[in-house]
Amino acid sequence: MKNLIVANWKMNPASQKEGKEIFEAIRDGVKGLKEEVVICPPSVYLYASVFGQGIVSMGAQNVYFEDKGAFTGEISCTMLKDLGAEYVIIGHSERRKYFGETDEIINKKIKKALEAGLKVIFCIGETAEERDAGKKNEVLERQIKIGLDGILNLENLNIAYEPVWAIGTGNNCGVVEAKEAISFIKNLVGAVDRSTGPRVLYGGSVKSENSGAYIKEAGANGLLVGGASLNAEEFVKIVKSAE
Ligand code: 13P
Repeated sequence: MKNLIVANWKMNPASQKEGKEIFEAIRDGVKGLKEEVVICPPSVYLYASVFGQGIVSMGAQNVYFEDKGAFTGEISCTMLKDLGAEYVIIGHSERRKYFGETDEIINKKIKKALEAGLKVIFCIGETAEERDAGKKNEVLERQIKIGLDGILNLENLNIAYEPVWAIGTGNNCGVVEAKEAISFIKNLVGAVDRSTGPRVLYGGSVKSENSGAYIKEAGANGLLVGGASLNAEEFVKIVKSAE
């Protein structure tokens, strides 16, 4: 099972031109490495997946759970597939916080994406308040239970543990704490000692200085990288640190 290193560009960069430059520098930099690398740009740049050329895969940051119809502003799984997207991020904490996504909505999205043949990066993680109140495991368990309700085939599923307090703060989760959470998640989904997944990734203020430890010490099967993935040189270093 390869490590999965995912770039989540969020609502960046500001132009297609800049996106293409970052994309090409990453593609050239990771050529020949054995990790699986996925770039998730804003969906309007996904058409550019034609330049993935098999070295990196493309993913979306969100999708809707209906097939088609009167859902202004939304994009379906089949549309993403048609553009060449192989992966989709679902349940990111920014979607939960700013766009009101509940565990139930996330469950519908994951079901639909898997049915459509997309590979899913399902994000979970506790807020600072939940952590301080000692509720971390309870929150992770609820997010997994509802998020994966009724889903039996976990083959195309990846889970990203992203503690909300570690996202975009520079305050990355300590390796011991990350290891505990990753083991807890693997136990819940029966991924312990299985070579087929689901892979459990770590995300939250990942940089090249801390990235290798999540794979080598905390037992993560990959990384979900935000800010640092917009700097091609830094992102390539992160991918190399997982080798
Ligand atoms: P940062 O790497 O910028 O903390 O973002 C993490 C994240 O939200 C990736 O999905």
